[in-house]
Amino acid sequence: FNLQNYNTLASPVCAEFFVAVKDEAELLAALKFAKEKNLPLLVLGGGSNIVLHDDFAGLVIHVQFLGKELVREDENFYYVKAAAGENWSDFVDYCLDEHFYGLENLSLIPGNVGAAPIQNIGAYSVELQDVFSELTALDVKSGLAITFTHEACQFGYRDSVFKNALLDQFIITSVTFKLTKKPNLKIHYPALQSALADENEQDITPELVSQVVCDIRRSKLPDPKQIPNVGSFFKNPVVSLEKLAELQQKYPEIVYYPVDTHQAKLAAGWLIDRAGWKGYVLEAAVHAKQALVLTNPSRLKGSAVLVLAELIKTSVTKEFGVDLEQEPRNYP
Ligand code: EPU
Repeated sequence: FNLQNYNTLASPVCAEFFVAVKDEAELLAALKFAKEKNLPLLVLGGGSNIVLHDDFAGLVIHVQFLGKELVREDENFYYVKAAAGENWSDFVDYCLDEHFYGLENLSLIPGNVGAAPIQNIGAYSVELQDVFSELTALDVKSGLAITFTHEACQFGYRDSVFKNALLDQFIITSVTFKLTKKPNLKIHYPALQSALADENEQDITPELVSQVVCDIRRSKLPDPKQIPNVGSFFKNPVVSLEKLAELQQKYPEIVYYPVDTHQAKLAAGWLIDRAGWKGYVLEAAVHAKQALVLTNPSRLKGSAVLVLAELIKTSVTKEFGVDLEQEPRNYP
C-alpha cells in the first residue's frame, strides 16, 4: 500500500498492510489483527510530522475518528472535545465561528487533532498545552480507554510523554480543549506584533489575529499540497546564556528568545540561513523563504530529506558549536 498521499512529505514508501478506522470498534479490530499476525504498528493522523524513509513491513492504522462538541462550560471557559481524526486547521476555524477563543495563534497548522498533543504543537507564543484540558487514548496492549490529564501528558517544547516514556503505547482518540469565553489575545510574538502595529487596539479581535497568523504562515511556509514538507525540520535549540553571549560576540544580530534565567532559545532557521543553506537544492531542498523548512519537491523517499538534514546538522555544529535536534519523527 503506497503511503504517498498519507504523509505531507509525499514520501512514496509502501506499507504491507493499511487500515482506516472510524471508531473504537474498528480500531480494536485493527489492533487484534496486528497482534494475531505479530505486525509492528504505525498510527498515522495527518502525516505532517513524520519522515517515512523506507518501506514498512507492518500495519498502518489511519485514524479517522470524527466529531466535535461543546461538552461543558463554566463561568469563564468552554470545554470543547474533538475527535482525533478532525483536521486541526478546520477545528480552529470551527472554534472561532462558535466564539470559543484561544486557538487563533495556532491557525493553519497542518495535521489532525489527535497528533497535536504528541508534539505539543505551538506557534506565535501559544502552545497546545496552554489550551489543553484532557485527552482520551486507547492502550495498545490492553485495548482500554484511558483519560490523560494535563499533568499526565508531561508537555514540553515540541514534546510530551507520548514521544518519550509512552512512545507507541497509546493511540489518542479525542482531545478536550479549555477555551475562553472572552478573547484573551497573545500578540507579543515579534512577527505578529509588527503585522498588527498599524491596527487600533479595539480592532484587534481573535478573528483578525487568526487571519494575520494565516497571512504570515502563507508568506513563509510552503503549502504541503504544492511543495511537500513537514514544517520546521529541527527544534529551536536551547542554549545556556554563556553560550549565547559567546555567539553574540561573533554574531551580534543572532536571533534568540529568552527561556529562563539560565537559558535562551536560538532561532534554528537563522542559524541554517546564516550558515548559507537557504534555497539550497540537492535532491531535497531548503525552503527559500524559511531555512528551517526542508522540502521534497520531487516527491522522493524521505531518505532524500534525511541526507540533506545531516549535511545541515554537521554544518551548523561546525559553524556555531550548536547541535540541532530533528523535530519530525523518522519511521520505520
Ligand atoms: N530566520 C532567519 N532566516 C530563516 C528563518 C528564520 O533569519 O531562514 C529568523 C527570522 O527572521 C526570525 C527568527 O528567525 O527572526 C524566527 O523565525 P520564525 O518567526 O519564522 O519562527 P521559527 O523560530 O523559525 C518557530 C516554530 C514554527 C512556528 C514559528 C512561529 C519551531 C521549531 N518552529 O519557527 O513552527 O510557526 O516559530 O511561532 O519551534 C513547526 O513546528 O513546524 C513550525 C512551523
